[in-house]
Amino acid sequence: MTLFRLIYVSRPKVTGAEHYDDILMRSHVNNLRAHVTGALVYREDFNLQVLEGGRDPVSTTFLRIAADPRHEALQLIACTEVSHRLFSEWQMRGVAPTASHTALLLQYTIGVEFDPYSLSQRAAEDFARALSEFEGRSAHPAT
Ligand SMILES: Cc1cc2nc3c(=O)[nH]c(=O)nc-3n(C[C@H](O)[C@H](O)[C@H](O)COP(=O)(O)O)c2cc1C
Repeated sequence: MTLFRLIYVSRPKVTGAEHYDDILMRSHVNNLRAHVTGALVYREDFNLQVLEGGRDPVSTTFLRIAADPRHEALQLIACTEVSHRLFSEWQMRGVAPTASHTALLLQYTIGVEFDPYSLSQRAAEDFARALSEFEGRSAHPAT
């Protein structure tokens, strides 16, 4: 099967832990069924999501997400064929950046604030790889 990795950024229209609990719970169920894996970095000012899996399920999942009224201003950053998954252990790893992520985010910061809208495809791919390594070291995969 051809593997794809899609990375997009969006601006949340709703914030709060309960909204993301719901999103991540549904993502877990749906993505498990579709063999989609990935990570969702969420902050008050942006969502940065990595979806990986077969082209068909990644496309279907992305189209559903894109129609979700809980966010706006979606921009695709990357959509590439890849040889392996970065987040193979996670149906959807939720990452609310904490102080321990600061150094990681700083590596991808041009101005004073990390701004995913300014990431190039290459930088986004590098960020996804660094994030998967960081999360792999700091957390246990969800089951
Ligand atoms: C930022 C964001 C990320 C999301 N990520 C996923 C995801 O990875 N997988 C998924 O199935 N739904 C995701 N959703 C939710 C979908 O938009 C949609 O509400 C959900 O898939 C509907 O599932 P249901 O038909 O089982 O209720 C996301 C929503 C938002 C706002």
